[in-house]
Amino acid sequence: MLHLKRQLPYRPTERMNVVSYPIRDIVMEAKREEAKGKKMIYLNIGDPPQYGFEPFRVISDRVKGALDENWKGYAPSEGDEQLRKTVAKIEKCRPEDVFAVAGLTEGIDFFFHSFIGFGEKVLLPNPVYPLYLSKAKQFEGDSVFYRHDADGQIDVGNLAKKIEGAKAMVIINPNNPLGSVYSEKNLSEVVTLCAEYDVPIFYDGSYDQLILEGRQVDFRKIARDKIPFIYGSSLSKVFSYPGARIGWVTFHGDKWSEVKNAFFLLCNQRLSVNWEYQRAAAAAIVDPSYPAFLADMKRKLLERRDTFMKMAAKLPLSFPVPKGAFYAFMKIETTKWRKDLQFVRAALKEGVVFVPGSGFGRQEDGVYFRTTFLPEPHVIEEAFSKIRRIL
Ligand SMILES: Cc1ncc(COP(=O)(O)O)c(C=O)c1O
Repeated sequence: MLHLKRQLPYRPTERMNVVSYPIRDIVMEAKREEAKGKKMIYLNIGDPPQYGFEPFRVISDRVKGALDENWKGYAPSEGDEQLRKTVAKIEKCRPEDVFAVAGLTEGIDFFFHSFIGFGEKVLLPNPVYPLYLSKAKQFEGDSVFYRHDADGQIDVGNLAKKIEGAKAMVIINPNNPLGSVYSEKNLSEVVTLCAEYDVPIFYDGSYDQLILEGRQVDFRKIARDKIPFIYGSSLSKVFSYPGARIGWVTFHGDKWSEVKNAFFLLCNQRLSVNWEYQRAAAAAIVDPSYPAFLADMKRKLLERRDTFMKMAAKLPLSFPVPKGAFYAFMKIETTKWRKDLQFVRAALKEGVVFVPGSGFGRQEDGVYFRTTFLPEPHVIEEAFSKIRRIL
């Protein structure tokens, strides 16, 4: 019999105060508008299949094949052997340097959990993909932000003033939310600076093949033998298959052995990542039909980016021209809006869903919001015609 009167309230912990994900948080408000009968255009999330992009077919075919195999147990915690070997070949590292993760989301979580301690300085881009803000807070790191110039390149002078004493630097390239693609010169200068201060890099390559304009630069080539770095990517964007929840993280340089052990423990703790999708990933990333798939995806993205640019040019907005990924981070150049959330809510009333700039850590010098240009051209035209009247 339970006699004790319960003393503790059914309340979440204090830790939850720092957990947020603005890209999806705004959807709840949008759904409320939708429930009232409003048609909504969702420009908040970078989910290619949601906007008609076909996932890379080889993945689902291989999953079907894997389902017929007899193995129904857990996969190895650190990742399926075949996937680790395949990724290692591409990334020019050893299979033991590769960890399979449930989307790069989990890789980012493991990175902060294993490497960023209380009060330790981590250099983040500003603006930044919101998960990094949230993870730095959860693991009580000291987030210090580096800036970009008007073209969306890393402002190396600004970085130089902040780098001393940093435990790590995060680079997202192509960048979410800016859509910028860093040049070889820019990345080389950053690597030189990091080498000078012995600051390793966590390189988020989620969009690494989605270059719409200019040349793709291989960061691994620039950084190899100069600084230790961690490189992460996933099936979500470049294979248009976010639902697979498969990503990988690779360690480069000879200083990571203790951190890799820590990664190993974190992997053990969550047992394993879905086995069938790992097998499919191993096949997909070396499949000969992938270049044609990628070329088609880029062609469509470029067409949508150009429609977006044409529409945005008619509005009082400023932003670096997106040259990669599928986002733009826009500053409102009128004085009508004082707060990004007010503007985003007004856009909701017009039937368009954006993410407020503050969700990406940017609000001190203006009113910003992020959009994706993933939808078909006529949808982009409709969305930007709708917000024209509120800007
Ligand atoms: C920059 C960046 N990194 C990581 C992720 C996480 O992606 P996933 O967990 O689907 O691999 C995203 C998703 O939008 C992203 O934009």
